[in-house]
Amino acid sequence: MTSTVLRQISSQDGEVDRETLWQARYGRAPVPALPSEWNETLEVLLSHRSSRNYRADALPTGTVELLVAAAQSAPTSSNLQAWSVIAVEDPERKARLAGFTGGNAHILAAPLFLVWLVDLSRLREIARQHGNSGEGLDFHESFLIGAIDAALAAQNAVVAIDSLGLGSCYIGGMRNQPEDVARELKLPPETVAVFGLTVGYPDPAVETDVKPRLPQSAVLFREEYGTIRPEDLASYDDAMKAFQQKQKLPLSGWTSVIAKRIENAAALKGRSQLTAILRRLGFPLK
Ligand SMILES: Cc1cc2nc3c(=O)[nH]c(=O)nc-3n(C[C@H](O)[C@H](O)[C@H](O)COP(=O)(O)O)c2cc1C
Repeated sequence: MTSTVLRQISSQDGEVDRETLWQARYGRAPVPALPSEWNETLEVLLSHRSSRNYRADALPTGTVELLVAAAQSAPTSSNLQAWSVIAVEDPERKARLAGFTGGNAHILAAPLFLVWLVDLSRLREIARQHGNSGEGLDFHESFLIGAIDAALAAQNAVVAIDSLGLGSCYIGGMRNQPEDVARELKLPPETVAVFGLTVGYPDPAVETDVKPRLPQSAVLFREEYGTIRPEDLASYDDAMKAFQQKQKLPLSGWTSVIAKRIENAAALKGRSQLTAILRRLGFPLK
């Protein structure tokens, strides 16, 4: 296994032990009975962590094309392929885009910044060429399809990135000032940047760790929705504090942080205006 991430987590004999990966993902929770099958794909998925510090090195020629092939291999609603991506490498453009996100210095540090778009403009044009108005694109449903397609495509690229020993970080801050982003990237109507993705070689001097996730009992229900047990949230707060301690971050846990993140409209950092902004960018959103 060549991934840098996996090398960091590998046991001494070079084998990535799935119990170690499981416990990193769930903060030392007991490992349930699992199927005996195990492979490198699962190792890459369970080892994922975002990287926000990069080496200055350029990416090998063809990396963008390889990542886009991985992205285009994702499933897509009705094969509509209602997304596009813009590869940004120009440092000045990256700096302007970072400015629209309210910071995110990792956009500047990364040699490559991929901006993922909901793209209904191509479909509108195709409908016109076939003699109809493409009325179906006017509805919220079509915007949602574009957002789902863009997310699936980008996440396939992230898995490819992780498998290559590269690092990445999504940038939702692309939605803070979507009209400025649209002007910068010369987007046509009915396209919008839904998130960015920084890509580069992780800086080995900055240790990253797998960030624990909620216990499965809080997210996995069988047959019908269940109840969320307070002890699951408490144990996750503890797991996050252990992660934060390792990363030398303030020990805030999780529940108090996310409660603040969704507290009110102001907490959305301008994104509470998104519906009106999307309409101005040409999405009817009926
Ligand atoms: C759609 C999306 C938007 C995100 N936006 C940002 C961002 O603007 N800045 C940032 O540093 N991280 C951002 N992230 C990264 C998340 O904070 C990160 O994935 C999460 O904390 C889990 O950590 P992990 O990826 O290391 O497991 C974003 C992630 C997603 C999926």
